[in-house]
Amino acid sequence: MRSIAGIAILFVALLHVWGWSTLSLPQGPGPAGSLDARVRQFLENRRGTWHSLNVPTSDGQALYNIIVDHKYTKALEIGTSTGHSGIWIAWALSKTGGRLITVEIDRSRHEQALANFREAGLTDYIDARLGDAHEIVPSLPGPFDFVFCDADKDWYTNYLKAVLPKLSAGGCFAAHNVSERGWGGYGREFLEYARSLSYLETTFVRGGSGMSVTCRKAGR
Ligand SMILES: C[S@@+](CC[C@H](N)C(=O)[O-])C[C@H]1O[C@@H](n2cnc3c(N)ncnc32)[C@H](O)[C@@H]1O
Repeated sequence: MRSIAGIAILFVALLHVWGWSTLSLPQGPGPAGSLDARVRQFLENRRGTWHSLNVPTSDGQALYNIIVDHKYTKALEIGTSTGHSGIWIAWALSKTGGRLITVEIDRSRHEQALANFREAGLTDYIDARLGDAHEIVPSLPGPFDFVFCDADKDWYTNYLKAVLPKLSAGGCFAAHNVSERGWGGYGREFLEYARSLSYLETTFVRGGSGMSVTCRKAGR
């Protein structure tokens, strides 16, 4: 009798574990699963080889989490470089059904990013533009619900000003290398401006290279 109860408990426990593992691994067999495997493999192969001012893995993971947690779909990245952060952002957007516009001024970095996006299997989620973000960003119609700013630091405040009219309520503007204590004079100026607007709220991602996340309050 005892052994039957034991087997029943074991069976229920196995079902439980199976249920959790399938829940926490959204990629089953099929296209989504293949994409996950391809992106993971790409990131694994490239680990430690990102040397063009790219974000560290922990910041890439943080970007991924923010997008998936908030179900953001309309993303903009300012400063593609060779595409490390773009890959994390686009991977997250493959989960939410979204798309990324990313802007880079340097031709060779832009071309390397295009090759990386292809290799990772993420081209369908990315519109990579070559040009000066000072001109491109104000000309984009939007709307955006997630912006990752990682280009010329002395222009962060201007980028925020250009993007704010196109940032959806509940949307966020993440600024790389901006920590709670500011970041040189530019980070301080950027934070002062962001904090001066009552409809915005700024928090910080700890660890990595420092990142502020300024969100437009819901309904504002
Ligand atoms: C810190 S890197 C971006 C790293 C990238 N986000 C990543 O993690 O893979 C900054 C990039 O911004 C680009 N950049 C600087 N000023 C720019 C501008 N005005 N317009 C577009 N890109 C610019 C630089 O060429 C550089 O590749």
